[in-house]
Order: sequence, then C-alpha cells, then structure tokens
Amino acid sequence: MIRKARIDDAKKIKTLIEGFAKQNLMLIRPLSDIYECIRDFCVLEIDGKICGCGALHIFWEDIAEIRSLCVNSEYQRKGLGKEIVNFLIEEARQLKLKKVFALTYQVVFFKSIGFEIVDKSHLPQKIWSECVKCPKFPDCDEVAMIRKI
Ligand SMILES: CC(C)(COP(=O)(O)OP(=O)(O)OC[C@H]1O[C@@H](n2cnc3c(N)ncnc32)[C@H](O)[C@@H]1OP(=O)(O)O)[C@@H](O)C(=O)NCCC(=O)NCCS
Repeated sequence: MIRKARIDDAKKIKTLIEGFAKQNLMLIRPLSDIYECIRDFCVLEIDGKICGCGALHIFWEDIAEIRSLCVNSEYQRKGLGKEIVNFLIEEARQLKLKKVFALTYQVVFFKSIGFEIVDKSHLPQKIWSECVKCPKFPDCDEVAMIRKI
C-alpha cells in the first residue's frame, strides 16, 4: 500500500534512506528535515513495515522534484518504485503542476517511466539554492531527468 506519510513514519523513513545513503546512492535526510517536509512524503507499507518512500517537493508554479525515492532491496524490481513515482505524479497532477524532475543515478529506471534526460541548466534556478547546501556541490554527478505530466 502506498499512502501519504504520517509523522510517526519519519524515523523509519530516515533509517531507510540512511541505508542507501551509505552506499552513496541517495542523499542523507536529517530527521529535522524529514519532519519539516513530512507532507512531501509518501510511503510504501507492506505488512505494517515501511519498505519504501518517495517525496514530491514543489519548486515553482509548474515544477516539482521527485526526491528521496527508494524501495527496500528485498522488494526491488517488482514494480513498486514505479508505483511510488506514479503516486507522486498523481499528486502533482492534482496540484496542477506541469512537470516533475529528478536528479538521479537511476537513469534506466526513470527512462522506463517516461522521464527524459535534460541539461541541468533547464531546471529552475531556485534548485541551486538547495544544491549549494548539498555535500556534492559543485561536483554533482547526478543526471537531471524530467517528465511532463
Ligand atoms: C530506483 C528504485 C527506487 C527502483 O525501484 P524498483 O521497485 O526496483 O523499480 P521497479 O521495479 O518499479 O522498476 C521499473 C522498471 O525500471 C527499470 N529498472 C529498475 N531498476 C533497474 C535496475 N537496477 N537496472 C535496470 N533497470 C532497472 C526496469 O525497466 C524496471 O522494469 P522491469 O523490472 O519490468 O524490467 C530502487 O532500485 C532503489 O530504491 N534504489 C536505491 C535507491 C536509489 O537509487 N534511489 C533513487 C534516488 S533518485
């Protein structure tokens, strides 16, 4: 089941992301940040356990980022990552957003769900205000991918 996150999911989301951050696949999210952005998050719950998550973060009038996306390794390649993204895209659609983007290493995955690679310069300038706070700045090797809604 994919549902909007609740405040009592925050610590589990942090632990899930941390596992992938240690493998350098994702950026770590401090608990304070997750609490602050809890309304961005949805979670994948299986048998009462949080096995995946994703977040939709609005940047501007027409665009939002899909971030903090992951599925527990045990449940990968079962179409669940795609379902999380579709859940977030549906939310974006209801908010009347026009496009979503991701900064990612998972190019094959995002291509399989209709995202296209774009030059980072096509993303709104506002994202740089967050990028400068990132440990990878200024040597970000993630690929920018975008999908129209
Ligand atoms: C990226 C991630 C969320 C994908 O979740 P998932 O549930 O495994 O993905 P899905 O099963 O929905 O995959 C949908 C399609 O994407 C493609 N795909 C997904 N993972 C892939 C991989 N590792 N290699 C090649 N293709 C892949 C396939 O075409 C797949 O369809 P198929 O299994 O029918 O061939 C998951 O691999 C993950 O949590 N990775 C670690 C964290 C991470 O990198 N997050 C991304 C941050 S932006």
